[in-house]
Parts: sequence; structure tokens; C-alpha cells
Amino acid sequence: MKIGVIMGGVSSERQVSLQTGQEMIKQLDRSRYEVVPIVIDQRPDLIRQVQQAGIDVALLALHGEYGEDGTVQGALETLGIPYTGSGVLASSLCMNKQLSKMLLKAAGVHTPAGLCWQGMNDYDPQMVAQLGYPVIVKPNTGGSSIGVQLVQNEQELLAAVQGACSLGETILIEPYIKGTELTVAILDGEVLPIIGIRSAHSEWFDYQAKYEVGGAEEKVIQLPAVVEQRVHHAALTSYQLMQCKVYARIDMILYQDTPYVLEVNTLPGMTANSLFPKSAAAAGMTYTQLLDRMIASSVH
Ligand code: DAL
Ligand code: MG
Repeated sequence: MKIGVIMGGVSSERQVSLQTGQEMIKQLDRSRYEVVPIVIDQRPDLIRQVQQAGIDVALLALHGEYGEDGTVQGALETLGIPYTGSGVLASSLCMNKQLSKMLLKAAGVHTPAGLCWQGMNDYDPQMVAQLGYPVIVKPNTGGSSIGVQLVQNEQELLAAVQGACSLGETILIEPYIKGTELTVAILDGEVLPIIGIRSAHSEWFDYQAKYEVGGAEEKVIQLPAVVEQRVHHAALTSYQLMQCKVYARIDMILYQDTPYVLEVNTLPGMTANSLFPKSAAAAGMTYTQLLDRMIASSVH
């Protein structure tokens, strides 16, 4: 089977995507697959490169816009090439945190309340003061915490909002919930061990904490049975509600034994330092076996 590992792309998470792709290439079982790296620089390139490579399956190592947001999935559907992970609808929904949160809320899943602004014209510090500091400011369609700021007071607000707006017009402002950061990897609708995250140098799980070795302590967390059940329920409800397929990772904050879902990642990081492979390893699955499962489930 000829596998095209699609990576790179134009989003702010390009570097992370390249790391994900390199790790996948390293770990794919060569006795089962012929592996073709496909590095995307511009969107029109994708279709040309995929067609030239003549692949049987696209293993998606892309993150962010034009990769994780349903556009590439749509192109591959049109070309009739199977690809790993969720389909067009789930991908585009999950890329949009605001819409995801509306659905989660409607389904009774806790998610931080907050403001959604369309660019600098909506800038209104009084509304943020009503939420109460500290707040988290983030681009609505971002990833890997790029452009995300923890804002302690009104003096810090303007620069954070400008920074987030420069990465995408819509931004979210949420109260900062000082709890335990958790992530739940789901594979084929089954939850893998819950990972608890403690950032080494920052108050929250920022870019450095995510990707630098030693940036965070990430360990399987033992929770009281009733809390674990709530976390599983929130993760599975989110996965099913968004119509995710094959795999996804749900990020949340546990506060006073209640999980608050932050977002659903349809193409979670698969770098050597990423959470999804760590969770799979805790379930006894090697990275190579995880890729086998992802490919088999995506091809049907
Ligand atoms: N957006 C990054 C890749 C993640 O969720 O792991
Ligand atoms: Mg994300």
C-alpha cells in the first residue's frame, strides 16, 4: 500500500506539522507500506502532488488552516483518495472553537463561557472586566497555542487582542480557569488513558510547554472513578457530537471535579513529544501500531 504523508501547509502550525510528518515517516512499518513524503507549500500544490505521487491513502500530518479544517479533506474526497481521520464537516467544525463551543453547550458539555469578537472593532474592555481577570485571549481558529495569551489585567488586554486578531479575524476571550489541564485521546470511539499536564515554566500549556523537551510534565492521571467517568463522558460526547472519525484529542480543564472542554483536535500533534502517542503508549500501543490502526480504520 502506498502511503502519502502529507505535511507542511500554510498555517501557523507549519513547523509542528513538519515534525508530525517526520515522526510518522520514521515510524511507519516499511514491511507494510511504501512511504511517500508530500510536503505542501501552497494549496494548488496539494492536488498536483497527490496525483503525481499516485498514493493509495493520504496520512494527514497537517495542522491548522488548509489542513485540519476540512479543505484538504474535501479535496481528497473529490480526488477519491482515502485519508486518515475525520471528514469534512467534523474537521471544519472543530477548527472553529466558537461554533464547537455553542454545540457543546447545547449538548450539556461544560466549556468556558466567554466573548467572541470580530476584530478590533469589537474591542470593549468593559465587557472583559465583567468576565473578570485573568482571561485567556485566543484566535478562534488557531492551534498549538499560537497567539494565545493569558491576560492578567486591562493594561495587558490591548496587545493580546491585537496579537490574536493578527492571526485571524475572530477571537475568543474566556475566563482563565485555574484547574488541571487534561487531554483525552480517542481512537475509533474508545478513550485512551487520560493525560494530566503540568507546564514546567508557564502557568498554562503554551507553545514552549507543548513542544520543548521538558516543557511540561505529561503523565497518565489517576482520577476518582466518578470524576474519570465525567471526563470520559465529556470527551466521548464531544467526539460524537462533532462527528469525529478514527481519532481525535479533546483538551479540557478539570476544575473542582468538573471537566470544561476547551476544544476538539481532529488532527492532534503526532510529534515525538506529542500527547496522542503518549496516551496510546500508556494503552500498550507503539507509535507504529497506532499508525497501523489509524490507516486501517480510515481505509475501511
Ligand atoms: N494543534 C496541535 C498540533 C495539537 O492539537 O496537538
Ligand atoms: Mg488545538
